[in-house]
Amino acid sequence: MTDYFPGFGNHVATEAVAGALPHGRNSPQRPAFGLYAEQLSGTAFTAPRAENRRSWLYRMRPSAEHPPFTRYSGAPLFGADIPDTPLTPNRLRWSPISASEGATDLIDSMVTMLANCDPATLEGVTVHLYAANRDMDRRAFVNADGELLFIPQQGRVTLLTELGRIDVAPGQIALVPRGVRFRALLPDGSARGYVTENHGSLFRLPDLGPIGANGLANPRDFETPAAWFEDRDEPFELIQKYLGTLWTTTLDHSPLDVVAWHGNLAPWRYDLARFNTIGTVSYDHPDPSIFTVLTSPSDVPGRANADFVIFPPRWMVAEDTFRPPWFHRNVMSEAMGLIHGAYDAKADGFVPGGLSLHNLMAGHGPDKPSWEAASNAELAPHKIEDTMAFMVETCWPYRPTRHALDTAQPDYDKAWADFPKAQLP
Ligand SMILES: [Fe+2]
Repeated sequence: MTDYFPGFGNHVATEAVAGALPHGRNSPQRPAFGLYAEQLSGTAFTAPRAENRRSWLYRMRPSAEHPPFTRYSGAPLFGADIPDTPLTPNRLRWSPISASEGATDLIDSMVTMLANCDPATLEGVTVHLYAANRDMDRRAFVNADGELLFIPQQGRVTLLTELGRIDVAPGQIALVPRGVRFRALLPDGSARGYVTENHGSLFRLPDLGPIGANGLANPRDFETPAAWFEDRDEPFELIQKYLGTLWTTTLDHSPLDVVAWHGNLAPWRYDLARFNTIGTVSYDHPDPSIFTVLTSPSDVPGRANADFVIFPPRWMVAEDTFRPPWFHRNVMSEAMGLIHGAYDAKADGFVPGGLSLHNLMAGHGPDKPSWEAASNAELAPHKIEDTMAFMVETCWPYRPTRHALDTAQPDYDKAWADFPKAQLP
């Protein structure tokens, strides 16, 4: 049996019980076995055909069957608690978080760090961290505010979603679409990582232009799960994030009861090692857009609501070139994380699990030791190995949460202190 189907946004038809999928129609008068037909729309009904994403779910009970939601207070740092003060122009950096003393599951451990738009505007991106040490058993979560891109940094995560099971490990990423209910297990007992929440247009693969038909992330390497469900009649908490606020209700059954589904809106996972890295073979440092895995376009052509970009192992061969990222200032805003290894523009302070922010027009680039090393390096072909950094770049300046402002490293500016002055003739 196939556990995963390959392809980005493919139309998939899958059933966990033979005969559960209707044939020839989406909402037959009486679906097989008394299942309920339900459409999950990821785009507007009238979105152009090439962008239209929806799936039909055949489930044991309709998702509409639930008591009222009430406010949830169990995840104190999950939510964009943005202080009502002017946005600092300063560069900021954070050390990794660690799991709390007690047992905490993935949802209760979420720490919101950066956000830039009200989710109700259907634009922007939010960056969260998690450090969890407990499975979600009789608890599920659903996010009305956007799709969730999981970027594990330590420990595997099993995402049991309405549309199937996804096992994701550090070095891989996984996406849960907006509105898809799921719970998370931690096969290694604990897990730490990043979550990028995209409130805007759905992540897609970037156009390739002159690169041609192949390269960067190839569609066939995205894996969508086969149908899977659980038939559990017992109290199940369902937590929902809705316009930035958490809510809870209790069902008398598991909401993960989709027996069959078909469509092109589904969770997926992708192994970053599959990324076909493109770079210069002559001179100069190309813009990091060459490393774009996924993009969420805004309404302005070429100006992304969010780009997910990686800095993977790769050969460096450029001649007469400062090979790491040069100094730059950007109209876009950059949040960076590190999955493992070291990043070639920072000698220390930016460690796996950490986070940095270079917002709109903030000058940044290599720290002094990295600048010195790269300025004096012998430019033989050289392979950067054992590293995986990523960036979530957005056209909307990030606003750090109150917690992020309280926990930033105090001395990040020193990364660019004491550069020698140029000596004119
Ligand atoms: Fe940058």
